[in-house]
Amino acid sequence: MKKIFVISGSPRVDGNSDLLAQSFIKGAQEASNEVVHINSYVINLKPCIACNSCWQFKKPCVFEDDNELLEQGMKDADVIVFVTPVYFFGMTGQMKVLIDKLYPFIPKLRPYELKIKDCYLISCCWDKKPSEFDSLRWHMQQISTYMGWNYKEEILINNCGRYQEIKDTEYLDYVYQLGLKV
Ligand SMILES: Cc1cc2nc3c(=O)[nH]c(=O)nc-3n(C[C@H](O)[C@H](O)[C@H](O)COP(=O)(O)O)c2cc1C
Repeated sequence: MKKIFVISGSPRVDGNSDLLAQSFIKGAQEASNEVVHINSYVINLKPCIACNSCWQFKKPCVFEDDNELLEQGMKDADVIVFVTPVYFFGMTGQMKVLIDKLYPFIPKLRPYELKIKDCYLISCCWDKKPSEFDSLRWHMQQISTYMGWNYKEEILINNCGRYQEIKDTEYLDYVYQLGLKV
């Protein structure tokens, strides 16, 4: 049994990446894993302002926002999964705000070791070109390496742009299978 922290980045409720996240989680839970799921659009996060006051009040961030939900997800996780659509060749703004709020968990600031070993990326975009994901992949690989995680696997889906277009494709099963074996 693993503890899996899933972070979603789309503002579209039940949109393509949301459905991918749900399907992944279904598989992961059926395989008896424990999942904490956060949607960066739904929770209240004030963007990082580089005040360098992380952990000052025994919580990751001094802001009165939902940063403690991030700690709940990060603290005991074995695996971290980022699920975001492509926005301008990268992740969504909501996802980036959340990732900046992981600053208290960078190796030199975190007050305890993390258990996270593996990082996964699940993404979709409108365009048909595989290169549409190049920047996002590179970015997530850099983050993963910096945090000390193994960038284990990615599922990147082109040609999927309209609301819930993912519904009638085999990709929901791909991510479900990934959830089963994660
Ligand atoms: C602001 C914005 C920027 C986007 N940028 C890209 C892009 O650079 N390349 C692309 O192929 N699709 C782009 N898209 C399309 C989305 O990736 C696509 O619609 C995706 O399916 C949305 O996923 P969701 O339903 O989970 O929100 C963009 C959409 C928006 C709203």
